[in-house]
Amino acid sequence: MTSNNFLGRTVAVINDLTLDERRHLYSKAKELKEAMIRKDRALLNKFKINDEYFGMRRAFLEDSTRTKGSFTSAMEFLNVNEHDFDVDHSSINKSESYFDSINTLVGYDDDVFVIRSKLEGVCRYLEEKTYDLGYLHTLDKPAFVNAGDGKHEHPTQEILDGYTFLEDNHWDYSHLHIALIGDLFHGRTIHSKVDGLKIFHNVKVDLIAPNEIALQDYYVKRMEENGFEIRTFESIEEYLDQKDISKQWYFTRPQLERMGEKVLAKQDELRKGITASVEFLRHLEDDTHFYHPLPRHKEHPTLPTELDGYSVNGWTRQSKNGKLTRIVLLGAIAGVPYICDDFEGQSLEKKVYEDNFIEPLIVENSGVKNYKQGVRPLKNGVVIDHISRGSTPQEI
Ligand code: NCD
Repeated sequence: MTSNNFLGRTVAVINDLTLDERRHLYSKAKELKEAMIRKDRALLNKFKINDEYFGMRRAFLEDSTRTKGSFTSAMEFLNVNEHDFDVDHSSINKSESYFDSINTLVGYDDDVFVIRSKLEGVCRYLEEKTYDLGYLHTLDKPAFVNAGDGKHEHPTQEILDGYTFLEDNHWDYSHLHIALIGDLFHGRTIHSKVDGLKIFHNVKVDLIAPNEIALQDYYVKRMEENGFEIRTFESIEEYLDQKDISKQWYFTRPQLERMGEKVLAKQDELRKGITASVEFLRHLEDDTHFYHPLPRHKEHPTLPTELDGYSVNGWTRQSKNGKLTRIVLLGAIAGVPYICDDFEGQSLEKKVYEDNFIEPLIVENSGVKNYKQGVRPLKNGVVIDHISRGSTPQEI
C-alpha cells in the first residue's frame, strides 16, 4: 500500500469526493468491469487488497438487500477481513448509543466501517469523534462510508447511478438531461444527486413529483447554484404533454416508512402521477433508459415488472454496477496502488473540525401540562413531532 489522497477517506456525502476523484474512480470502475467481462484475472488481481489484517465491517441498522449484498460481495472480492455488525444481537438493544457501539468495534481492528442508519450525519459524527488509535493495521483512524443515512444522503448509490448514466451516455461528461421521478422529498438517492450530477458539465433536471413529495426548495436552490437547468412537473402525464422529454428517467419509490401520517393517507393518489407504464414507451425515443435504486413495492411498484423485459430497463444493470463501483471505492480508501497511484487532479484538503456536531440548547420550562394521551413530556431531550409535507409550520 502507498500513501495517497484516497487513503483512509470518510465518504459521508458525495461532496467528500472531488469531481476529479469521482471521475478517476469511474474510469477505474470501467476498467474493472471490462476486466470482469474478459475474465482477465491478472488485471482483476491488481484491484484486490489481499490483506487478512485489513478489517472492514458492515453496520446496517436499517434494512437492505442490494447495498449490503454488494458491499459484502465487494469486500469478499477485495479479500480482506470482512464481517458484519450483528445489529439484532448488539448492545444497541440495551440502549447503548451508536457511538459507544461503533467506537468499541473500532478497537477491534476495523479500518473501514460501512454504515446504514436512520441517524442523519452519523458518518461525519463518527469521523470527528472516533479516536486516533494509532494501531489499526493500515489506517491511523477508521474511515466511514455512508450506505444511506435517513433521508439525507446515499453517496455510494450516487456513484453507481452516475456510473450507469455514463455508460448510457457513451462516457460523455459534457451533458446530462435527466428526469427525477417519485418521492423526491424523502429519497436520499435524490438528495445525493444535487451535488452528484455535477460530474456532468451541462445538466438539465426535470423534477416530476406531486406537491406533497416534491423536492425541498433548498435542494432545488442548490441545484440552480450548481448551474443546473431545472423544470418541475406534478405528474408524468404533465411531463409527456410537452416536447422536451429526457432519455434518462430515474424513478424512486414512495418512502412510506418516512412519511408523515397525512401524506401516507394519500399514497394511492400520489402514486398515480409517478408510476410508469408500457403505454408510455410509444412517446419515448428508442434509446431511452429508466433507472431505479430499488427496491420496488411488490403490490404497487411505480416501475411495473412487465417493463423488465424491455430495452428501457436500466435498473438491473444499475444494481450490478453497485458491486464494481463499491470495489473501487473501498479499494481506493484502502490505498490499493493500482486504483490510486495514477490519480491526477484536485483532491480535498485534510479536514479540521472545530464546531460541535450537536449544540445543546437550554429549553425554558413552559409550566405543568396535563397530558391525557399522545406524546408524553420528556424530562430530558427534544421531541419534534407532526412533521410531514402538507402542513404549514403554523399548523404543525
Ligand atoms: C435506496 C435506499 O435505501 O435509499 N435503495 C438502495 O439503497 N438500493 C432507495 C430506497 O430504499 O427506496
